Formats: sequence, structure tokens, C-alpha cells
Amino acid sequence: MLKRVNIKTIKWVGGMDGHVELIDQTLLPGEFRVIKIKDVETVRQAIKRLQVRGAPAIGIAAAFGAVLGLRRMADDAPVDKARQKLKETCDYLATSRPTAVNLFWALQRMQKVATESKIDNTRQLKDRLLVEAIDIRDEDAAMCQALGAHGADLISPGDGVLTHCNAGGLATAEYGTALGVMFAAHQRGKKFHVFVDETRPLLQGARLTTWELAQAGIDHTLICDNMAGALMQQGKINLVITGADRIAANGDAANKIGTYSLALLARAHNIPFYIAAPSSTFDLSIPDGSHIPIEERPPKEITHVGSNCIAPADVNVYNPAFDVTPHQYIAALITERGVIHSPDSENIRRLITNA
Ligand code: MRU
Repeated sequence: MLKRVNIKTIKWVGGMDGHVELIDQTLLPGEFRVIKIKDVETVRQAIKRLQVRGAPAIGIAAAFGAVLGLRRMADDAPVDKARQKLKETCDYLATSRPTAVNLFWALQRMQKVATESKIDNTRQLKDRLLVEAIDIRDEDAAMCQALGAHGADLISPGDGVLTHCNAGGLATAEYGTALGVMFAAHQRGKKFHVFVDETRPLLQGARLTTWELAQAGIDHTLICDNMAGALMQQGKINLVITGADRIAANGDAANKIGTYSLALLARAHNIPFYIAAPSSTFDLSIPDGSHIPIEERPPKEITHVGSNCIAPADVNVYNPAFDVTPHQYIAALITERGVIHSPDSENIRRLITNA
């Protein structure tokens, strides 16, 4: 049965003088190292360098970063000055990565609590921010559990499940989104097989998803990204489940580059394509996926594998980290509030805003 799925990816240790602890995901699977972070600059760097990655985990890191940015301010400093410092800190953290909306969602939430009328001094503000950041972490863990429970019915015994990138415990507070669904199905005693795309260029599937599935005792096989179509043709895949970094009001969803191709392949083979994501990943302020900013990352991530250069030094490189899957290709969005079948603006608004 389930061996280990509740690995805590990121947490706050101690009180206001404490620090952030996170698993350095750039080192896995070779080395499991937990790093301690005590300042906002290092949090931003950790997000940029993908030491902490995955949309919900990035949001949690940013919330803790906001606390770190403010905590050295004297308790008796004017509270307006502290609020201004918080804004500057959040603006700074917001420049770390552009696509995952959870980052901006968490920073907005931190700034919103700072405006509460009962806060009238800097010490209170700092304490309130720490409580809020810890709540964001804990709520994410709970959302992943609920989301997993809602999605588990979509997996049947004997299924072949394809996933891309890493949407597991490492990408969240713990447990995960796409992998959370698989963990929940496994916990219910279902036997199924997961095919894991390696996920070029940074190999989150090969390095992280296989590691998590092994920890949980779920059968899995690693494949190269370009093998997915052949496996579908061979009848090995019954469903695809991925996570998301930002879902627009109409259900168009950004996720790791290569996800869109999988959705098209799945449609061609009549295989359901699912996206699992908490409500913090929805961005109802944008009508569709064309408004989602797509991060472009350094050429070296493509020209090099580890320290090995695999392309001519002066080659032109294009390295978008995400793509957008139009909602028409998504059979359902699996959220902590329930499953949205055939997602569109109306059914998303109904569930996500309770409107
Ligand atoms: O660049 P990354 O590794 O942060 O990209 C992560 C993904 O694309 C995940 O699928 C997504 O954030 C969902 S995580 C639950």
C-alpha cells in the first residue's frame, strides 16, 4: 500500500525568528537535501532556479518570502511604513516567475490581510502575515487531499495513466494534484500503471515524478516525451492527468511545455485528458489562455544536459517553459471543490466563485 506520500516540500520552522525549510528539487533524485532559507532574496532565487517549483509550492514559497522580507523591521516602526515595505517585497517576489498564478494569488492574499483594520502596529502586522503564510501552506495540503478524493474515481483498475512533468507532493505543500489523484486511487486499492513523460528540458518527470511514485509504491514506467503517441496507439494509455500553472476563466490551461501536444494526441486516440488543480490555480480575471504570460527560460537548459553540451555552442534556441491547452481538449478539471466536466466559463464560474 501507500508507503510515503506526505513529504513536506516546504514549511516554516519556528516563530517570527524562524526560517523556511524546503527540499532542494534541483538535486533530486540523487540527493535529498533540505535547505534553510532566512531571507527574501534567497527565496526569490530558489523560485527562479526551480529549487522550489510547481505552481502551488511557488505560491507558498512567495508567502513565506513576504514574511522574511518584513520581519527585520522594528516592531515599533510606523505600520504604514511596514505596509509599504510589504508591497515592495511582494513586487520583488512577483518578478521571480511569470506563469503560475498561484504566486500572484498568494502575494495578493498576503497584501490583503495587511489591510485588516484591526492591525494598528508593525508587530501585529508581522504576526498576522506569518499566520496567513502558514495557513496558505496548510490549506494547500488540505486542497490536494480533497482534490485527490474527487478525482480518484476517474481511474479504473487496470488503467494505464499518462502524466507529464511533476504535479506531485513536491509541486505543492504535500500530496500533489495530478499525483494526488493517483495516490488517492492507490489508497482505495486500485491497481493501475503510470507512464511518466521524462519532460524535457529539465526532466521533472524523470527526476521527480518517478521518485514520488516509487516512494508511494505505485507501478510506473519512464518514457521519453516523444513516445506518448506510440503508447496511445498501442492501447497502453486509458487516460492522461496533468497539473496546471494557470487556468483562465474559460478553462484554457497553461502547464509544462508538451502538455498541449499530449491533449491533441489524447483527442486523436479518444482518450480522456484531465487537469487536476486547486482553486488557487484559476485566474478568472483573464477570459482565455491567450492572456497567460509564458515564461521563457535560458537556452542552456536545452543545449546542455547536466554539464554536457549537446548542441553547437552558437545554435539558436527557443525555450518556452509552458504551453496552453484549449479547454475543448480537456475532458474535466479536477479541483478540491469537485470535478468540472467539459469545462467552460459558466461551469467554472459556478464552482470556483460559487456564483
Ligand atoms: O517549471 P515547473 O517545474 O515549475 O513546472 C511545473 C508544472 O508545469 C506543473 O505541472 C504545474 O505547476 C502543476 S504543479 C501541481
